Amino acid sequence: MLDLNGVRLRNRVVTSASLLGYGASAHRLIMYGLSPIAQWVPLERFGAVTTRTLTLEPREGHFTLRDDWKLTEFPELLRLYRQALRSVDGGWMNAFGWCNIGIERYFDEYFDRTHRLNRIVSLGGFSADEFCELVETVNKHAEPGQIAAVEFNVSCHNVNFPFENILEDVLAQAIPASRHPVIVKLSPDTDYVAAARIAQRQGAAAVTAINAVKGLRLDPETGQPFMKNYYGSVSGRAIKPIGLRVVSELREAGIRLPIIATAGIRSFDDCREYFWAGADAVSLGSATWLAPLPGYLLGPAHGMRIRRLISQVESARLPVRPAGRSEELSATEQAEMQADTNDLAAAVAEAAVLRGSFRLRSGVMADYYIDKYQFGTRPALLRRVAEAIARELPEDTECVAGTALGAVPLAIAVSLARGLPAVLVRPDLKDHGPSRAIEGTLQPGTRVALIEDVVTSGGAALSALDILRTAGADVRKIVAVVDREEGGTAALAGTGVDYKALFTSRDLGIEPSAAPAGGPSPEH
Ligand SMILES: Cc1cc2nc3c(=O)[nH]c(=O)nc-3n(C[C@H](O)[C@H](O)[C@H](O)COP(=O)(O)O)c2cc1C
Repeated sequence: MLDLNGVRLRNRVVTSASLLGYGASAHRLIMYGLSPIAQWVPLERFGAVTTRTLTLEPREGHFTLRDDWKLTEFPELLRLYRQALRSVDGGWMNAFGWCNIGIERYFDEYFDRTHRLNRIVSLGGFSADEFCELVETVNKHAEPGQIAAVEFNVSCHNVNFPFENILEDVLAQAIPASRHPVIVKLSPDTDYVAAARIAQRQGAAAVTAINAVKGLRLDPETGQPFMKNYYGSVSGRAIKPIGLRVVSELREAGIRLPIIATAGIRSFDDCREYFWAGADAVSLGSATWLAPLPGYLLGPAHGMRIRRLISQVESARLPVRPAGRSEELSATEQAEMQADTNDLAAAVAEAAVLRGSFRLRSGVMADYYIDKYQFGTRPALLRRVAEAIARELPEDTECVAGTALGAVPLAIAVSLARGLPAVLVRPDLKDHGPSRAIEGTLQPGTRVALIEDVVTSGGAALSALDILRTAGADVRKIVAVVDREEGGTAALAGTGVDYKALFTSRDLGIEPSAAPAGGPSPEH
């Protein structure tokens, strides 16, 4: 299993929303609802299979939900089909408009039957409330771990809706409500960098890039549109350069979330190109699964090619992701990043700053307390904090260390986000020797970043540093979430290790006068 910031995939090859319907055919004998090529590939071989976008209620969209067509009615069915999907200009144009059976029927009719697959459930709604309701429905039917993620389709042209207007609300409300990691699907036709920043800020686990590109084809004789919805969505080979551009630009803009790339992918070389551009996983869409009708006769050959592609990606050495060019950010990008930081500070403050009268471990009284377990135990917030910490790690970090107890979830979350091993440090067991005080595997000479939750006097960080150094670690950086500005910076300055706190108490809205005069114990 591969872990992309909480999205657990069997490998880096997934399938794009809808191309394999709901992951199984509607009827045992007819491949209705998913590409006929699917019967030639064991679908459990994929990293995950993404469903068609599901809405709260069944929707005809621009096609039909009927599946009892008589033979004599086939011409009419084909006519409808051609108005929803056609081969065009080196790719495909579709406009199904979220034609789907609705989320409850999906769980009734398909969920158990597809239990062998790793699944991503695609959800579509027109408001934050609808997305919350969809997420609640998934929560009700799927235990954590039963699906890899839910994917928010906030980028489909065929439903004629300005998703960019509701994006922030949808993500702010529905991501924390989800028991499953959330992937946000981006459109190449709107400001995808801004959308990815919102996704990152609101705690999404990953983004999918890209949804199909808005397009138009008209009959040259009559001027009639090919698609029933007038405009359509272009996919396949024709849009591969656009997909690559979007992935690359997201990385250039400093987006650190895992990217699942989909646009025109058919061969191993396509996958390699996307990995070079900055993708973490690749998704097979229309270029793989759709063919002009006679092309489906070659299904067994297609199947063999797809199985080989999965094996090639599994055994490939993947290119190193190009670094974001954060040092070259434009003024607007810097302003946006600052807004992200401020927003995270506000979220941490809201979750973790307690006002009142508190006796700290040292016996000192303080009128505020930072409850680190609040940002260490809420998945959406923890993911954002971990991403922010991960951005501070030196490029050559080999291992992250977290001190018991508060920094353990932080270290593990960063470890998952960056695919780095973690070790856990237990200062209380220092006297029992390094082998007891460090959990996990740490080879001498390993380049370590030490993660702290709240730094007060810096004492806990100094103890952890001492333990790590005794074990031979090369500690390169200490990253804390909050510095209470009570001596920690000065204490750590003497260690020769670079130290950075994401926030000071002041950033969390706490005035210095509120801090206790004597300062609490290192353990906060
Ligand atoms: C026939 C068809 C139906 C699609 N339906 C959905 C959908 O329900 N939800 C969604 O998020 N994307 C949908 N897509 C978009 C694909 O998942 C994918 O993002 C897009 O086609 C670009 O990738 P590709 O060029 O590899 O096909 C659909 C694409 C096609 C061709």
